[in-house]
Amino acid sequence: MSRFHVHIALGCLLAAAAWSATLDTDLRGRPVKRGFFSSAKCKIFGSGCGPSEDDLTYGVLFDAGSSSTKLRVYRVTPSESSGSLPTLAIVYSQRFDPGVDSFVNDEDGLREYLTSILDSAKENVPENKQERTPIYLFATAGMRFLSADDATALVDNIKEVFQNSSLSPFLYKPAGVGILSGEEEGVYSWVAANYLLGFFNENRPDTEAVGVLEMGGGSTQITFVPRNPLYDGEFQVTVRGRTFELYVHSYLQFGINAINNWVAQILAERNPRQRFVHNPCMLKGDEKEVKLQNGLELTMDGSSDPDQCKDILTTILKPETGIRCEPKPCAIGSVYQPDVDDIQFYATQGFTYAPATLNAIEDDETLNLETLEENASRHCRRTLKQSVKAGIKRDLGSTTCLMGEYIPILFTTSYNFPTDTTNIKATSNIGDSSIDWGLGAMVIELTGNQVRRRRR
Ligand SMILES: *[C@@H]1O[C@H](CO)[C@@H](O)[C@H](O)[C@H]1NC(C)=O
Ligand SMILES: *[C@@H]1O[C@H](CO)[C@@H](O)[C@H](O)[C@H]1NC(C)=O
Repeated sequence: MSRFHVHIALGCLLAAAAWSATLDTDLRGRPVKRGFFSSAKCKIFGSGCGPSEDDLTYGVLFDAGSSSTKLRVYRVTPSESSGSLPTLAIVYSQRFDPGVDSFVNDEDGLREYLTSILDSAKENVPENKQERTPIYLFATAGMRFLSADDATALVDNIKEVFQNSSLSPFLYKPAGVGILSGEEEGVYSWVAANYLLGFFNENRPDTEAVGVLEMGGGSTQITFVPRNPLYDGEFQVTVRGRTFELYVHSYLQFGINAINNWVAQILAERNPRQRFVHNPCMLKGDEKEVKLQNGLELTMDGSSDPDQCKDILTTILKPETGIRCEPKPCAIGSVYQPDVDDIQFYATQGFTYAPATLNAIEDDETLNLETLEENASRHCRRTLKQSVKAGIKRDLGSTTCLMGEYIPILFTTSYNFPTDTTNIKATSNIGDSSIDWGLGAMVIELTGNQVRRRRR
């Protein structure tokens, strides 16, 4: 009997080894091995060790950004217990240039473009599962800038392609194609981060959910489950029967590029009728042309003046008080935001570069806002030449100054984190997986959960 056992175990191990060698890792960077040693699944002779191909399902996502579309094929391995979510793994990923928004008024071009992506998707989903595999296309930044008519026409044309079974074998649902709002992006990123941390699996208290801070080129988002009652900005996310009331706000004009333009706008107001102005958030020796909203062109040269830079940013980021802020408290202007309390946050994407360059991220990824502020001020006094000498790429010198000054003010003055907070990690990854909305959207869509916006 004992030899028999050994045989089975060995068979399983070999099968498992071969299997984990051929299949890739899950989203936390570990080999997918759920159920390897589960005796119920591990039948005699080692066949059926681990989840069989029959149990696996797939999902296809087109992540339609402004300059490219990223195809991602997700594989879902069912969970063994009702206490945990299925495991999602990206089994295929490919980038296609340009973005869908370059096919406005070009139906044929769009069909050809989508068909080539679909061909790639077909090669990566088993043929017998394709018609049960849902397909999604969610567009972000780029498409938000199209006119409403162009966007509607484009979405309709995409739907036509996905619906046409001679072009796409996948399962099409009308709600699977559309443009995400900044808030939806924030909500899905929140789902992704908490999924990667295993938060949804055990019955962990709400207080252990992490929040997410995202910084893109155009917008910046803050998403978390507040400890206190929520008066506005809510989304409800239901995962495994549990509903979470999320606060999310997307500030459309506060991303990296947008804030640059905003600083220029203020400089123009403070220096009326001038075509050349000194920009205190840029390094001496650096020069830049900007086009203002009113069409005027402005040439800015750096004056390496962190105090002036802080002054401008504080003006932009200041919360309203008194009767201009209702409900209270406010974050930026009159935008309501509940307290961040002692919730753990992940600050991703554009929040990571300047802090990394300025050595303000500790070994455990904690962002040190005091170090960031100090080092940013030191860096902002440099000339471009000195910055390059210190090892910072020429085209990042001024951006590092601006972001280094911007991030501490945004987090403390607007979001109301204490200056000495240890609750913000600056990283775009958890394990080997990136905290991105695509993963969160697939966690919701492919495992039967839902997101609802609460309207009041
Ligand atoms: C589906 O696509 C094919 C190939 O482009 C085309 O000939 C056909 O008319 C389309 N069908 C529908 C219903 O649009
Ligand atoms: C930032 O500050 C830390 C600690 O104060 C210091 O060790 C580091 O060299 C500084 N880095 C830069 C780029 O100024």
